[in-house]
Amino acid sequence: MRLTAGMTAGDALAAITAEFRLAGLPTPDLDARFLVQGVLGIDAAALFVDRARILGTVWMPLNDAVARRLTSEPISRVLGWRDFYGRRFAISPAVLDPRADTETVIELALAIVDEKGWRERPIRIADIGTGSGILACTLLAELPQASAVATDISAAAVDVAMANARALGVEARLNGIVTRGLAGISDAFDLIVSNPPYIPTAELDHLDVDVRNFDPAMALDGGPDGLLIYREIGCEIKELQSPTVLVLEFGVGQADAVTALFAHEVTVPPRFASDLGGHTRCVALEIHR
Ligand SMILES: C[S@@+](CC[C@H](N)C(=O)[O-])C[C@H]1O[C@@H](n2cnc3c(N)ncnc32)[C@H](O)[C@@H]1O
Repeated sequence: MRLTAGMTAGDALAAITAEFRLAGLPTPDLDARFLVQGVLGIDAAALFVDRARILGTVWMPLNDAVARRLTSEPISRVLGWRDFYGRRFAISPAVLDPRADTETVIELALAIVDEKGWRERPIRIADIGTGSGILACTLLAELPQASAVATDISAAAVDVAMANARALGVEARLNGIVTRGLAGISDAFDLIVSNPPYIPTAELDHLDVDVRNFDPAMALDGGPDGLLIYREIGCEIKELQSPTVLVLEFGVGQADAVTALFAHEVTVPPRFASDLGGHTRCVALEIHR
């Protein structure tokens, strides 16, 4: 396939779709459309009505984007952003590509915030393993009185999270800290959220290539049984001086094992939420003191 400056968007779309189909990509039509839309900076409707627009200089970045997608690099990484809970987040090779399933954490956390009447209160939030900052930034955007701490062992990830906080106008209420868990942070938190790494180390080599080759290992590797970081969070929870609500994402099949780690700390039965595929993927735990 050869894209040229004089080509129309419609012809480019057809050529890229054919190329992706030939290469065996699983969703060639969708991939081609998202790439063309993303590189041109237009939505599906605009592309549909304006197929005759000439590519011009855009043919070069589009050509590069096609070459990257042919290596199985996810579209979001090629474009450098991912939409999450209705907002756009920049991503870099240093952070996990946010997954739609993680919106479950936001939904469960906000349901609890509403039940407790916290929406208009200046609650304190912690996001452990913030990555691109999707959880902390989304909660701050949804809860204008709240403030948050976002931690990550990766300094590059904290930089991405803070850049996203700036872009969303919540930077003044977010403190990004490079640390393990909540180490060195003595604040009290009303709400702690986390989507930690939870894949058992031995399974990393068997992940799909778009995950294995493009998501950072430190965002995936949950130790020998996948539960290492949950145990670390469990130890930190024991040290807390005030009650908190903990909302955790975990992998398919890990609900009981994760919940059991906090069994002696909770006052009310754990509350679970399911992802878009119907799998239990998130728990809210009310930690007593
Ligand atoms: C699965 S990613 C989640 C990122 C983001 N919260 C999301 O949902 O897209 C896990 C993140 O936790 C970070 N991390 C791993 N171990 C950690 C630890 N012990 N303490 C803090 N962050 C950790 C990784 O660097 C990575 O950014």
